[in-house]
Amino acid sequence: MHDIIEQLEKKRAAARLGGGEKRIAAQHAKGKLTARERLELLLDEGSFEEWDMFVEHRCVDFGMADNRPPGDGVVTGYGMINGRLVFVFSQDFTVFGGALSEAHAEKICKVMDQAMKVGAPVIGLNDSGGARIQEGVASLGGYAEVFQRNVLASGVVPQISLIMGPCAGGAVYSPAMTDFIFMVKDSSYMFVTGPEVVKTVTHEEVTAEELGGALTHTSKSGVADLAFENDVEAIAMLRRFFNYLPLNNREKPPVRPSEDAADRTDLSLDTLVPDNPNQPYDIKELIFKVVDDGDFFELQPEHAKNIVIGFGRMDGRSVGIVANNPMVLAGCLDIKSSIKAARFVRFCDAFNIPVVTFVDVPGFMPGTSQEYGGIIKHGAKLLYAYAECTVPKVTVITRKAYGGAYDVMSSKHLRGDVNFSWPNAEIAVMGAKGAVEIIFREDKGDPAKLAAKEAEYKARFANPFVAGARGYIDDVIQPHETRKRICRSLAMLKDKKLENPWRKHGNIPL
Ligand code: HXC
Repeated sequence: MHDIIEQLEKKRAAARLGGGEKRIAAQHAKGKLTARERLELLLDEGSFEEWDMFVEHRCVDFGMADNRPPGDGVVTGYGMINGRLVFVFSQDFTVFGGALSEAHAEKICKVMDQAMKVGAPVIGLNDSGGARIQEGVASLGGYAEVFQRNVLASGVVPQISLIMGPCAGGAVYSPAMTDFIFMVKDSSYMFVTGPEVVKTVTHEEVTAEELGGALTHTSKSGVADLAFENDVEAIAMLRRFFNYLPLNNREKPPVRPSEDAADRTDLSLDTLVPDNPNQPYDIKELIFKVVDDGDFFELQPEHAKNIVIGFGRMDGRSVGIVANNPMVLAGCLDIKSSIKAARFVRFCDAFNIPVVTFVDVPGFMPGTSQEYGGIIKHGAKLLYAYAECTVPKVTVITRKAYGGAYDVMSSKHLRGDVNFSWPNAEIAVMGAKGAVEIIFREDKGDPAKLAAKEAEYKARFANPFVAGARGYIDDVIQPHETRKRICRSLAMLKDKKLENPWRKHGNIPL
């Protein structure tokens, strides 16, 4: 028995060494942690239960029969983050560059299947050279098995990808189907085809970093949600992020009691919106001032900045926050911002997280680039997302709510539960100037008359009371009591039940 135990320990030690000390040193030299070091930081101390440490690949081609490192390039299992269950896989770049074999894929599938059965999130730490070249189609089959599970798990358990090394070719499509993607600056990249292929096909000269690095995907493409300086920061932030999420779609979001009183008022909000309606202000100031302890976890802060999304807590409960940002493009809705917010609203809806929306939107972005790019279809995504959403929806119009954008931004008509406005709000079909120029076109040559009509239109419509008279706005509130009113509304909505009609699935305009 003693021998057997010794043998087991030897096998375990071999598995823990991954690709060996030399390759571990090379990984460290790149500023990267190993697959196991990453899991140690991610999971609560001593909570990791490893599975499939002894799994080996089955490939015999290209000398692979004599090279079967235990674990086959991915560390899998489950553990806890702040005492809450999570399934994990962490690709080991020191073993065949973390490349995915059939056996490697089976390990990932096993934790995904189990996560769905018990209702716990899956976190993938990606660091891989892609398909295991020696295995050919078996590896492609492995990827597709993972993809299929990504889709089945979507909306059932949260899925988060942390890209900590290469992620290229078809391999990008597994993270792409997870709910959130975080990347590490300078050491991670994602692209469908690398710089060499790009050069051959399109004659563009581009580095891997420019093509698919963390900054590219968090600012230009919007593929990734956040970029972090290094592995340690990324993992620490992921642990923080995890706290906002429920474990599955049947659970309510976690509650974290706070000392911050739900009825706290903030007088500075009364002067947040400038008197001049064309002057911008920072909507994030409002968000920071209303959420518990000023703690707001923003996603995609560098992409489509005209809309702000992220998680906060109100009276201890997680909420998703969506807010037009008048600082950028006057807060207009365009293609990118519509897509960004739509996906976020759908995540919140899938996982029972109430949505709080702050509205200051002059309308949809005009122009050929928007029309040719399909603003009709992409703007419809956000409309669709809000309209199908059945979680509690609380909306506050802080200034402008014009045209179709008024309807889209969680309006009463899209089953907004509680819709407030601030007293200075302007809720109308369009701005007074544009409106007058259309309905009094014959007075074009008479600026004085037009100005008078504009003032009349403004007085009549640029306020919240026309909407209030129809019950489209439940109350016109003082800015300083915004937190209190939202918290009360959310408490009232705590046990809200609303179901959409049965269907196989809707057909969101993709
Ligand atoms: C097998 C691989 C591998 C792979 C790397 N390795 N990628 N082994 N299959 N895909 C091995 C290397 O041979 C090397 O082994 C070790 O991993 C480390 O690789 P290096 O090249 O030394 O590391 P580095 O210089 O950091 O470069 C990393 C890399 C490069 C950029 C990822 O290795 C690379 O370009 N690999 C090939 C990438 C690729 O073409 N993959 C297939 C893409 S197609 P030793 O023994 O020397 O340490 C694809 C399709 C997926 O993925 C489709 C899904 C639907």
